[in-house]
Amino acid sequence: MRTSNLIQPRSSVPRPSVASARGCYMYDTDGRRYLDGCSSAIVANIGHSVPEVVAAITRQADAVTFAYRTQFTNHPAEELARRLAALAPDDLDEVFFVNSGSEATEAAARLAWEYWRSRNRPEKRWIITRHLSYHGMTLGALSMSGHSGRRRSCEGLLHEFPAVPPAYCYRCPLGLERASCGLACAEEWERSLSRLGAANVAAVVVEPVVGASGGALPAPDGYLTKLRELCDRHEVLLVFDEVMTGLGRTGRWFGGDVEGVTPDMIVLGKGMSAGYTPMAAVIARTPIMQAVAEASDVAQFGHTYSANPLSAATCLAVLDYLEDHDLVSAAHERGTVLRADLERLAFHHEIIGDVRGRGLLLGIELVADRATRRRFPPEVQVADRLVQAAFERGLLVYPAALPEGGDSVLIAPPLTISPTEVDHLLLMLGQALGDVERAVSIAAPEPAGMHLSPLTNCEVNDA
Ligand SMILES: Cc1ncc(COP(=O)(O)O)c(C=O)c1O
Repeated sequence: MRTSNLIQPRSSVPRPSVASARGCYMYDTDGRRYLDGCSSAIVANIGHSVPEVVAAITRQADAVTFAYRTQFTNHPAEELARRLAALAPDDLDEVFFVNSGSEATEAAARLAWEYWRSRNRPEKRWIITRHLSYHGMTLGALSMSGHSGRRRSCEGLLHEFPAVPPAYCYRCPLGLERASCGLACAEEWERSLSRLGAANVAAVVVEPVVGASGGALPAPDGYLTKLRELCDRHEVLLVFDEVMTGLGRTGRWFGGDVEGVTPDMIVLGKGMSAGYTPMAAVIARTPIMQAVAEASDVAQFGHTYSANPLSAATCLAVLDYLEDHDLVSAAHERGTVLRADLERLAFHHEIIGDVRGRGLLLGIELVADRATRRRFPPEVQVADRLVQAAFERGLLVYPAALPEGGDSVLIAPPLTISPTEVDHLLLMLGQALGDVERAVSIAAPEPAGMHLSPLTNCEVNDA
C-alpha cells in the first residue's frame, strides 16, 4: 500500500515527519525532540527559526518575492553581493547567485573555462579535483566529486575529471607520516599538472576541509599555500569549494583564511542561507570577470531563481545575525571546546580512531582496532549505525562514510550551541557510541574515570 508520493532518500527506511524546529532542537509530529548535532546537513548554522530572519522573510515577501534578473536588478541581491565581496579577501568582488552548492561549483567550472576561452586559451579545459571530495549532485558537480557512494548510480553519465590523492593524514594515501612527509600530497598536484600538461588545465577545485566525503579532513598546515604557489606558477585558477566551510563554520569567515590564501574563486552555499532558503554563490576575482566581460557582455549561466529578492533578503538577515552575534568567533571558541570534549570521549570509546576538523566542523573516524587503525568491513556500515543509534537517542549527526575514506561521522552543531546543549550532545553521542560498540562487539565502554590510551594520531589543527 502506498503511504507517500514523495520519493524518499531510502525507501526501506521510514523517517518521522518534522513538525517544528527552534534553535538547536527539532521536533517531530509525535512530539519527539532531536538535538541538531550536525546543523541538519551542516546548513542550519544560526539555528532554526530565528525570529529576526523570519521577520526579514515576511518583510521582503510583502514587498516583492520575485523579479527576473534579465528584467530587474534588486536591492537585496545588490546588497548581499556587496557584503560578500567585502567579506571575501582581496579582489574577490564579483558575485553570482544560484540555488544550490552543486550549481555553484558548476558555475565556477564554467567560469574557469570561459575565462581561459576569453583569453584565447581554449585548450585550458581540465579541472583537477581530489579522490576524496564532494562538490555536488548534478551531473557536472558529481563528475568533479570523489564520492564513490554518490557517483555509483550514474557512473556511465559522468564526465572525466582528473583527481589527486587527498590530504588524509590519518590514513595517508602515500603511506607517509605527517611529521616527516614534507607535504608530499601537495606535490601530487604538480605531478598531475605535468601529466596533463599545465597548458591544458583550467583550474583546481578543493574543499579547505573535506566534509561529506572525508569526515572533516582539514588541509594540513601549508597545503593551501603550496597549492596557491603551484597554481600561480602554472597559470591555473584555484577554486575553493566553501559550500560547507564558508561563512563561519570553521571559526573563520572562509576556510581558506586559516592560511591567508586568496583563491581565484570561492563557492558558497549551505551556511550562506543557513537553511532559510535555497541559495548559493560563486565569488570570482575581478580580473576573471573583466576578461569574461570583455569577450562578451552576456553571462552565460544562471537559473530562473538566480539572485531572487526573497532569497537574497533572507541571506542578508542570516549575515546580519552572524555578525551581530559574533558567531564566527563563537565557532572558533565552541569548536575548540567541543573538539577537546570529543577527544575526552575517545578515551572511553575505543571505536573512535581519530578526532579532527576545524571550528565547529568536526569529525570522528570509527575503527575496529584503534592500535592498527583497522576499518570495519563495509557491510557493517558502522557510520550509518552510529547515525541511527544517535537518532534513536534524539541526536542528529551526519555520516561521511566511504570505502576509500573510512567510516566517519560529522559533528557540526549550529554555531549558536550553548554549553548546556554541548553537554547534552556529548551525553547522547556517548550513549550512541556505546550502543554501536556493543552491537559490533567492540570492547564495552570503559567505566567513567578509566582512561584508555590517548589517540595516537589526533592531528592538532589550528582550530
Ligand atoms: C563542499 C560541498 N560542495 C558542494 C555541495 C553541494 O551542495 P548542494 O547539496 O547544495 O547542491 C556540498 C553539499 O554537501 C558540499 O558539501
